Amino acid sequence: MNRFVGRTVLITGGGRGIGRATALRLAQEGAAVAVIDRDTAAAHGVIREVAALGRTGAALVGDIADFESAPRFVADAERALGPVHVLVNNAAHATKATLAATEPADWSAEFAVTLEAAWRMARAVLPGMTERGGGVIVNVASVNALLALGNPAYSAAKAGLLSLTQAIAHEYGPRGVRCNAVSPGSIRTEHPSWQERLRRDPATFEKLARWYAVGRVGRPEEIAACIAFLASDEASFVNGANLVADGGLTAGIAPMIAELDGRR
Ligand SMILES: NC(=O)c1ccc[n+]([C@@H]2O[C@H](COP(=O)([O-])OP(=O)(O)OC[C@H]3O[C@@H](n4cnc5c(N)ncnc54)[C@H](O)[C@@H]3O)[C@@H](O)[C@H]2O)c1
Repeated sequence: MNRFVGRTVLITGGGRGIGRATALRLAQEGAAVAVIDRDTAAAHGVIREVAALGRTGAALVGDIADFESAPRFVADAERALGPVHVLVNNAAHATKATLAATEPADWSAEFAVTLEAAWRMARAVLPGMTERGGGVIVNVASVNALLALGNPAYSAAKAGLLSLTQAIAHEYGPRGVRCNAVSPGSIRTEHPSWQERLRRDPATFEKLARWYAVGRVGRPEEIAACIAFLASDEASFVNGANLVADGGLTAGIAPMIAELDGRR
């Protein structure tokens, strides 16, 4: 597929995990890709991989929690690769597992990256998109936006991201901009919260499998495929949606069903 030939994509947190997989998927489909990451080596590494696919790319190093940087990131991406057609708000910040452990500074920091930076980035690309008659924003939310799964500040911010998705879809839809969300279930990445859990129990992902109707957790490439669909013209009538990509986690309570059936 060549759904992104001639298009420029800007991805926050594109240096690793779901962001990296999205950068590579969209580059495979023809996009020029700019990634923003605070990890210099990771950002440049992904852009080398993009180049190896025969596409142009730009590594933009910085912290999206530095709010004033949003217009600069967009200007730098456009200087390097031309007008941004697709923004993927992917970076997020999750530290505290419980409400009891969450201090006001944690709440602010988790909201700053997970929600406010996404709004700032959207705010920075929307004028150009509307001027050019269109564009697409994909926000990476989470199943944590839908039910209590721990990390309450992060989860509340992700729920806010779904609301922001609807607000952008409604206000900017008439001007040619579509905005949708993807809500992944557990995805095998190097996200710090997974690294911490894996340190405690190396079998974490295998143990989680029983909660998933498909019998396993997800891969970054599976979320990248959803983002690619929503970012493409194939999703031309999809606006304000939340695509839940969770292997059936939120479709039911698998261990409860197993218990009712006498399988456990
Ligand atoms: N992995 C999962 O199980 C899972 C589940 C649901 C939702 N998500 C969401 O998917 C997205 C990506 O998650 P992941 O697991 O791939 O994460 P990850 O930690 O593997 O990668 C995130 C990347 O973002 C960068 N980053 C983080 N904060 C940044 C900041 N302030 N400024 C610039 N760069 C920053 C990191 O350096 C890293 O390269 C996040 O929004 C996350 O909430 C992940």
